[in-house]
Amino acid sequence: MLPQPIVEQLVAIVGESRLLLEADDLQRFGVDRTTLWQAAPCGVVLPGTVEEVQSIVRLANQYNLAVVPSGGRTGLSGGAVAKDGELVVALDRMNQVIEFNPVDRSVKVGAGMITGQLQQFAEEQGLFYPVDFASSGSSQIGGNIATNAGGIKVIKYGMTRNWVAGLKVVNGAGDLFELNKGLAKNNTGYDLRHLFIGSEGTLGLICEATIQLAATPLESSVMVLGIEYFSEIVDVLTCFSRDLDLSAFEFFSQQALDKVVAHRGHAVPFQTETAFYALLEFEHSSPDVVDKAMELFERCVDKGWVMDGVLSQSLSQAKNLWKLREDISETLWQWQPYKNDISVRISRMADFLGEVDQLVMEQYPDFEIIWYGHIGDGNLHLNILKPEVLSVDQFHSKCANVSSSIGQLLAKYEGSVSAEHGVGLLKKDYLHYSRSAVEMDMMRSIKRAFDPNHIMNPGKLFDC
Ligand code: MLT
Ligand code: ZN
Repeated sequence: MLPQPIVEQLVAIVGESRLLLEADDLQRFGVDRTTLWQAAPCGVVLPGTVEEVQSIVRLANQYNLAVVPSGGRTGLSGGAVAKDGELVVALDRMNQVIEFNPVDRSVKVGAGMITGQLQQFAEEQGLFYPVDFASSGSSQIGGNIATNAGGIKVIKYGMTRNWVAGLKVVNGAGDLFELNKGLAKNNTGYDLRHLFIGSEGTLGLICEATIQLAATPLESSVMVLGIEYFSEIVDVLTCFSRDLDLSAFEFFSQQALDKVVAHRGHAVPFQTETAFYALLEFEHSSPDVVDKAMELFERCVDKGWVMDGVLSQSLSQAKNLWKLREDISETLWQWQPYKNDISVRISRMADFLGEVDQLVMEQYPDFEIIWYGHIGDGNLHLNILKPEVLSVDQFHSKCANVSSSIGQLLAKYEGSVSAEHGVGLLKKDYLHYSRSAVEMDMMRSIKRAFDPNHIMNPGKLFDC
């Protein structure tokens, strides 16, 4: 329950209709896509301006009230969960295009802008916003920045970080920062903008972002290839990426395909069943690019790595092939999956795949495991489906044991416990497998510098 003096002051800042205290609003704004924690915020406030955000943060400091920043709440690690009486600050109303600059090829937007709307805006200007993923229809750009979101085009275009040219943020002390101001070159010491990217709301609130846009990509083709052995997916990747400028290289297992086909009604790519499938995309950057792709396909077949394949013949066929990969995540929600989002360097991927596969078979003998991910970025999604007989808590604690073994393996391979989903609540116990004790201490010092009273998203990323 929010004490009355705070209610009155919040109402004075944002207006009565923008402070939500009803149970269903608290429930809706208090969780992300994870199902492990119960929403229990004390209130939800919807500021409309940067000044209002500043006033809210100053008030929160005065009353030592914890703040959880909230975007589209599509996160998969509990980073936007408010389970301990925090005040949720939702940026939904700050969703405007503030300024488009065709010369700089950049657009300044409010943090609450939906990713898909930004993509649409870029397209209307004859440009392209290349960060894309299945939840782009509801995720917000501020949340994408706070988690440095990845997606399906990272192999060519990189993560969200690559496209942030400037940020307007309010830190945990209520100070306003204009970071990098859209500059292409700026060598003036520490780049604080990059500290906020991927900070998961622990340093402050992202209010506005200047986003760099790319040139519209050329027409592209999609190929789906059937592959029998895990490690040979990497051989196929190496073969194709040496000669083609790939814009995606994804993979999924037969089990993933079975579920998507059964639950979404999509057609299988071809009749041959294989343990794994790679989906790759390339732009038509030269007249012979399709011939080149076919030649590489045949080379992979001759090597015995690829059993069958299909090349899109139209835009609609390319879109349908993409659905086989993009719809996996949504399809799996009904099994309340425990999600792993891990990465190693591509050069170590083949060996890592062998070991992680062995470990999972030994430690999860009775669980259904679904593999998919962005193999071209060294990023695997390992989803463990909850058996009906186990409660969520029982299931979670069994999976947590295996996560420690995976963490140890990742430490051996110098990999990451979170490639793109972020750490949040879900992975903070495993962060030490990817970050040294000195690094963690340094991160805590950075948090103290930006958020001296420790009000910003406490308990996420690490415990202070
Ligand atoms: C994906 O690659 O589909 C997304 O990261 C979501 C997920 O892992 O479920
Ligand atoms: Zn992913």
